Amino acid sequence: MTQDELKQAVARAAIAYVVDGEIIGVGTGSTANFFIDELATIKDRIKGTVASSEATAARLRGHGIAVYDLNDVTDIAVYIDGADEITASGAMIKGGGAALTREKIVASVSRQFVCIADGSKLVQTMGAFALPVEVLPMARAAVMRRLAALGGQPRLRLKAGTEQAFITDNGGEIIDVAGLSITDPVGLEQQINQIVGVIAVGLFAQRGADVCLLGTSEGVKTLT
Ligand code: A5P
Repeated sequence: MTQDELKQAVARAAIAYVVDGEIIGVGTGSTANFFIDELATIKDRIKGTVASSEATAARLRGHGIAVYDLNDVTDIAVYIDGADEITASGAMIKGGGAALTREKIVASVSRQFVCIADGSKLVQTMGAFALPVEVLPMARAAVMRRLAALGGQPRLRLKAGTEQAFITDNGGEIIDVAGLSITDPVGLEQQINQIVGVIAVGLFAQRGADVCLLGTSEGVKTLT
């Protein structure tokens, strides 16, 4: 099976976690895109969605699926999204697609977090994937010094093919921190959250996934 077929398989399996008549939180990225396409086939069963990025909102609307502003919603039944790395206990690195802040906000108000990923994302210790941190542009250099002091090698994410900083949906910039061996995900998430100028860190450990659907060549495996 190709990686895309594995992503499609978990996206299809995630439909079982969609709650009829409710609002569904929808993540960002290639796996989430497969999920959106699956969700379109049952769109009449749900009340609508909250999107974690402008790209996701556009894809949902393209399928005729209602997208609500989070401020107009009090309850989200389930949040479904991919990950860049995930451990067996549900801690994740997210933000490869730069949507980490909105992803974290939507996940934080959802009753259940279902992570959908191909099997290559499962790791024992996170950190091989550079950890994304969204920052206010004026704090970029100061935050990078603090991240380097934590033992990582911070690098400003650039807009593809340019020397200019990549700008997020929120007007922030992304620092990708390589070289971390994340043995205490909850502790590191707290530490980075406390650096002034950080908008959000792509470590989802304090609120990790409740369920992970992993696509493998033997089928979809469920980790809880
Ligand atoms: C987006 O900001 C990310 O958190 C994605 O969920 C993550 O990068 C996984 O993306 P893919 O599904 O494209 O691998």
